[in-house]
Amino acid sequence: MALLQSQNDGLVSDAHRPAYHFLPPKGWMNDPNGLIHFRGEYHLFYQHNPEEAVARNIVWGHGVSKDLVHWKPLPVALRPDKPYDKDGVWTGCMVDDNGVPTAVYTGVHPEVQCIATSRDMMTWEKAPENPVIPAPPEGMQVTGFRDPYVWRSREWWYAVVGSGIRDVGGAILLYRSRDLRRWEFLQPALVGEKAKTGEMWECPNLFPLGRKWVLWTSPVPLGRVIYFVGAFRNHRFIPDYQGEMDLGGCFYAPQSFRDAKGRRILFGWLWETRDQAMSQHAGWAGVQSLPRQATLSRDGRLLFQPVAEVRALRRQRVSLKPRSLRPGEEVAAGDLQGDCWELQVEMTAGESSRCGVRLYHTADEGQVTSILFSQAEGCVVIDRTHSSRHETVARDVRSAPLTLQNGEPLRLQLFVDRSVIEVFVNGHTCLTSRVYPEGGARFAPRLFAIDGTARLVRAEGWTLEGVW
Ligand code: FRU
Repeated sequence: MALLQSQNDGLVSDAHRPAYHFLPPKGWMNDPNGLIHFRGEYHLFYQHNPEEAVARNIVWGHGVSKDLVHWKPLPVALRPDKPYDKDGVWTGCMVDDNGVPTAVYTGVHPEVQCIATSRDMMTWEKAPENPVIPAPPEGMQVTGFRDPYVWRSREWWYAVVGSGIRDVGGAILLYRSRDLRRWEFLQPALVGEKAKTGEMWECPNLFPLGRKWVLWTSPVPLGRVIYFVGAFRNHRFIPDYQGEMDLGGCFYAPQSFRDAKGRRILFGWLWETRDQAMSQHAGWAGVQSLPRQATLSRDGRLLFQPVAEVRALRRQRVSLKPRSLRPGEEVAAGDLQGDCWELQVEMTAGESSRCGVRLYHTADEGQVTSILFSQAEGCVVIDRTHSSRHETVARDVRSAPLTLQNGEPLRLQLFVDRSVIEVFVNGHTCLTSRVYPEGGARFAPRLFAIDGTARLVRAEGWTLEGVW
């Protein structure tokens, strides 16, 4: 069992608590908020209940980092202490207003948009003009009105606010302002169809990427994240591609920002899939994904990869030479095992119907999680029906469509961090899941093929060092 360090004081020992993904010292966390690269430091705020592992009494937690990997916890930034936010300081973003970090967030009153500024990133002052957007547009029957996301374009600030039009579908409402205090509603930038993409769009992000614009949102009640690539013209978003950000079933409410190197970086909330009582006993719930860099592919979809800084965690390396994987055979990835590691595998499916990686619990092989490519069905799958003997944790099979062009190998990049399994597939598809095997989260990966021979082109892995 890992030794508990000072950051974890007051928590029971928990072998499922991640060691290199971002999480608060204790308590509940959901959405990432206020992401900004400011004066050489990365700031990550987050929806947080510092007292217990349940989603109530939310404040803005805060962490700071020089490299996106090693974080220092900072004091709570925003609390619900004004009439206009007494029922919640909910999700929002952070902008640099001429040197003044300014948070734009939802106060719950029921839902209004507010701002808070700081001189030192430590103490925050809520603006006397709050709430700066005191109500949804007049005459609009909305299903929600929250999670402002702001950017600057020449002399204007623009904001999108997550919303929905009753009986129609999710909607992104577009506003503009000269000073972040007086806002003018322009129009809905995009409206969805309720039957397809839900009734309310939470946590929108809208930003330029390469020669396109990207819009993503977390629709209620879908519980996953959709993105659009397209154009943003005349205050309207015109999609020409729609995709899914992560089909593992545990990734939600991502927020992105542009750092000083010009990278578009995002974090997403990875929720728990063990029951509430287990989280409360453990004293914490919720973890952030690895920082992911988003880029645009030539055919206009999004590519995701962990930021290069994550490589700093690599310790012992293992690798395998190219070889065939005969049906029924299982090949260990050297002696890679434990609860924190990364594995990159490149294989061609050949004659196999399915091929991939199984993660066996090192002390109990009846607990196994599989990540595989089904050539027959054209999808990549994470199967956790046998991940745990615990009765109360989620067990399911999640999949994402994947067709490989002739000869294109399957490229899996897998990150295991105790209960977190984050999978990047061929640079464009993500499947993130949570597993809670009995007896701790210790896994040994083995490569396999079914029904025919597959070919292993390359496998390389590393144990990763924890940061907490
Ligand atoms: C998304 C969300 C946001 C809201 C916040 C409250 O997970 O529901 O829409 O602002 O969480 O914690």
